[in-house]
Amino acid sequence: MEMEDIVLFGAGGHTKVVIDIVEQMERHHIIGIYDDRPELMGTTYFGYPVLGPIRSDYAVNRGIIGIGNNDSRALVSRIILEQAPEFEFVHAIHPSACIGRDVTIGAGAVVMAGAVINPSTTIGPHCIINTMASVDHDCRVDAFASVGPGTHLGGNVHVMGHSFVGIGATVIHQVTIGSESVIGAGATVVHDIPNNVIAIGSPAKPIRTRETNEKFL
Ligand SMILES: CC(C)(COP(=O)(O)OP(=O)(O)OC[C@H]1O[C@@H](n2cnc3c(N)ncnc32)[C@H](O)[C@@H]1OP(=O)(O)O)[C@@H](O)C(=O)NCCC(=O)NCCS
Repeated sequence: MEMEDIVLFGAGGHTKVVIDIVEQMERHHIIGIYDDRPELMGTTYFGYPVLGPIRSDYAVNRGIIGIGNNDSRALVSRIILEQAPEFEFVHAIHPSACIGRDVTIGAGAVVMAGAVINPSTTIGPHCIINTMASVDHDCRVDAFASVGPGTHLGGNVHVMGHSFVGIGATVIHQVTIGSESVIGAGATVVHDIPNNVIAIGSPAKPIRTRETNEKFL
């Protein structure tokens, strides 16, 4: 199969993982990376040239945003589509991930090594399913949400847009996690969680509200 050229956005830690997945997939050829830091211009990052700021004329209109923060990824996607309305986001799925029947993976989503996504689950655009996470049957993970490393979602869980479920958390079946919320590392979620909160512990309880764009990593 002919390799498609793509570009990446953001020269940070998450992009390293995206690069590794793309190289192992052998379906796309990375031309370079766009990043806003002037000191990175003309340098290479993890073996690929930094081509210019995020707001640029892109070398190709196809790629992946390698930014781990959900709200920042959403902002950058808006900028890219303002610059190039025809830009096509592609997803990256590590070859060791197990993807079940009737699973949908949205444009620009990243599924990392050892992740398991069971049947009839929908992973929205630009989501991150991190290393060795599992997402059981009939789940919905909405756009720009992310599921942390080693985190487990039971069946019929709904993670709403831009939310983050922290490393090693467990979410029992049929729970809904509201939008823009953060579930702390190691939490056990047994009840629905509202929008815009930080919830921690076992059982997980909201400890405070969370502003949109508030950092969680
Ligand atoms: C929940 C979280 C967002 C809170 O961050 P924060 O608002 O900056 O909170 P703080 O670090 O100030 O901690 C506040 C209190 O909550 C406790 N706390 C923080 N995170 C906790 C967690 N996950 N579980 C239990 N308690 C936690 C702290 O010990 C502290 O308690 P104290 O006041 O008694 O000392 C963060 O700790 C967290 O778990 N983030 C997820 C990180 C992750 O998954 N990383 C992997 C990235 S791929």
